[in-house]
Amino acid sequence: MKRLIPLIALFALVSCQPKDPVEQRIDDLLAQMTLEEKIGQMNQLDPSWSADEKEPLISQGLVGSIFNIVDPQEVNRLQRMAVEESRLGIPLLVARDVIHGFRTIYPIPLGQAATFDLELVEEAARLTADEAVQAGVRWTFSPMVDVARDPRWGRVAEGYGEDTYLTAAMGAAAVRGYQGNDSIVRLAACVKHFAGYSVSEGGRDYNSTWIPEVQMRETYLPPFKAALDAGSLSIMCAFNDINGVPASANKHLNVNILRDEWQYDGLLVSDWGSIMNMESHGIATDRRETAKQSVDAQVEMDMQSNAYALHLKEYVEQGLVSEEQIDACVRNILRMKFRLGLFDNPYCTVETPQYFQPEALAAAQRAAEESAVLLKNNGTLPLASKPTVLVCGPLANSQHDQNGTWCFDKVDSMTITPLMAFRQLAKEGKIRLIEQKGKHWSREVSRKNISALTRLAKKADVILYFGGEESILSGEARCRAHLTLPGDQSQQLRALKKTGKPVVLTVMAGRPLCIGDDIAAVDACLYAFHGGTMQGPALANLIMGEVAPSGRLPITFPQAEGQIPLYYNKKNTGRPTDHPVLIDKIPVGAGQFSIGESSYWLEYGDQPLYPFGYGLTYTTFEYGPVTLSDTILPISDNRYPITASCEITNTGNCTAVAVPQLYIRDLVGSLTRPVRELKGFQRVEIPAGESRTVTFELTEQDLAYWHLAEGVDLGADGAYAFSAEPGDFHLWISPNSAEGLPVKFTLQ
Ligand code: NOJ
Repeated sequence: MKRLIPLIALFALVSCQPKDPVEQRIDDLLAQMTLEEKIGQMNQLDPSWSADEKEPLISQGLVGSIFNIVDPQEVNRLQRMAVEESRLGIPLLVARDVIHGFRTIYPIPLGQAATFDLELVEEAARLTADEAVQAGVRWTFSPMVDVARDPRWGRVAEGYGEDTYLTAAMGAAAVRGYQGNDSIVRLAACVKHFAGYSVSEGGRDYNSTWIPEVQMRETYLPPFKAALDAGSLSIMCAFNDINGVPASANKHLNVNILRDEWQYDGLLVSDWGSIMNMESHGIATDRRETAKQSVDAQVEMDMQSNAYALHLKEYVEQGLVSEEQIDACVRNILRMKFRLGLFDNPYCTVETPQYFQPEALAAAQRAAEESAVLLKNNGTLPLASKPTVLVCGPLANSQHDQNGTWCFDKVDSMTITPLMAFRQLAKEGKIRLIEQKGKHWSREVSRKNISALTRLAKKADVILYFGGEESILSGEARCRAHLTLPGDQSQQLRALKKTGKPVVLTVMAGRPLCIGDDIAAVDACLYAFHGGTMQGPALANLIMGEVAPSGRLPITFPQAEGQIPLYYNKKNTGRPTDHPVLIDKIPVGAGQFSIGESSYWLEYGDQPLYPFGYGLTYTTFEYGPVTLSDTILPISDNRYPITASCEITNTGNCTAVAVPQLYIRDLVGSLTRPVRELKGFQRVEIPAGESRTVTFELTEQDLAYWHLAEGVDLGADGAYAFSAEPGDFHLWISPNSAEGLPVKFTLQ
């Protein structure tokens, strides 16, 4: 009896708690809304709707969101219809794909990941939001956190590379940047594409994916969870089917995991037409049926299909969809509008938008500097003083292409190319410049061009060749089967090299390219991705040595397409690579088992062109041995992490940034474990000749992974547990995923 009193008191306290005011306002609105108005909120109109079609719908409160309007006056005009003319005055969500910058363009996300600089990525997103909200945009469809291990897939450009930990950290940083810390969010993030989109077979966009549950949970879901934990107000379904069920009808992902396990109360929007696309997927006979399948999977807003608007009412009237289901969807849509402060401040109040502010341009330049990865250097870089340089190649002066994929609101004329930056240096007397004249593009093939180039090269001390891919060759639906330099760029590079002059290749591309032979032919190679508005000055600074390169690869570079998918945190297999005999070393007539039986490709062994985390700079770093605070990590006690430290010495003669990476390996698990897993990274600037000690902490939680629950057989439903298993682990602090010596500790 004694125990009961406090329990009753507690119950009374809970039941008297005033309802959260936002939830109260949502309830009030829902109570007043007609079924048509509720379904209207679930509809997002694309820009193809004419004024005559959309305006009556907006003023009747039958539209939840509009898309791709970036004129603040027009946004306000339509918003006024929703707020002042509709019966309940529910404001519109105004959406736009603002992916790596609005007017000021930052490097493509893959390039941003190469910075390994979370503060910078957050800052870039914050400055992007500053620009986008001035145009009336309040909702961006970013970040994309699809872990991508197939560079044939064009959208590898839009994500943060191959690693789950890095992608999760980058995605969360972007969400914090877009949304800010205030209780009213300025620009809502939308983490996408839920889930498994990047695993499309053959690297062909929109293709089917087959992802076992443990792999989904271990590799592909954590970045979504991290972005939602960082506060992302929304999430978008993927286009693909996963294990036979399209993401837009996937109850397991959208209900079991997103709602039930993660308790997410933000908005789930479909992808563009992904609801009606289920007809093509062949799991619905018509658009009407697709609407039912998506609403049953609690996809709350229909982007572009117009399937909800056309068919949901009929389903509710027939009792096949309940009004509670509709209410659950609308509740999340209204909650997002409240979190954006739209009910109290629906209009864009900026009279004259200020774009390209100095702070934004400086951040864009720093991001472009930090995202370039030095892959090779025989001492040609940085350039000696006052050289005569030939600036050439198809990307040397393409304002359009260096911005990369997905930037609808860029202003090409504000983009500074490498050629423009070197012209400026020539004006300042720092170099003498020879220019390749004319307009060039990456797929160009021209003998005349090659002979003109070699003539120019003879007059130069050094050749700066800016090659790679035009922006149209990467991004959504831009998949490639051959990851070569397009056109005759390889021939150009070889012809230039024949002149005997040093050649520096800078690659501006949306993906890793398999260009080992091209890199072997040149003296230095900077892999710069598509770097945005300020990439020209950034590259000039790197090439001239004003800034030392500090980018590291966020994705493994394969030697050949046939190795794909190739990623560092692979499993060891039962027959790890052992003394690989390459194809040209196999004796003629060799017996079947005479060259061993281990896991590798006859042409390449098991080696990539460059491993994840790799990048050179203008100095060298020496990593000392790793010391641990203890070799035992007590199980079930997250209060006492293990601390791992390592001294890094700059053994060269210029200040530069080291990017130490913390990796672990779980030596024995109940499921097979990867040979390495990234668990932390830092950027540390170290002056020439000096040393710095870096320290990382690791808890039991960091060692946890998804495996089969005890006593459960493989394949059974609900069979998974997330925990660390006792045993031995290896730990590295190393400059990339392929180097370093491990130390051992035990979780017990
Ligand atoms: C399709 C893309 O997959 C998605 O990422 C994008 O946000 C939407 N289209 C809207 O443009």
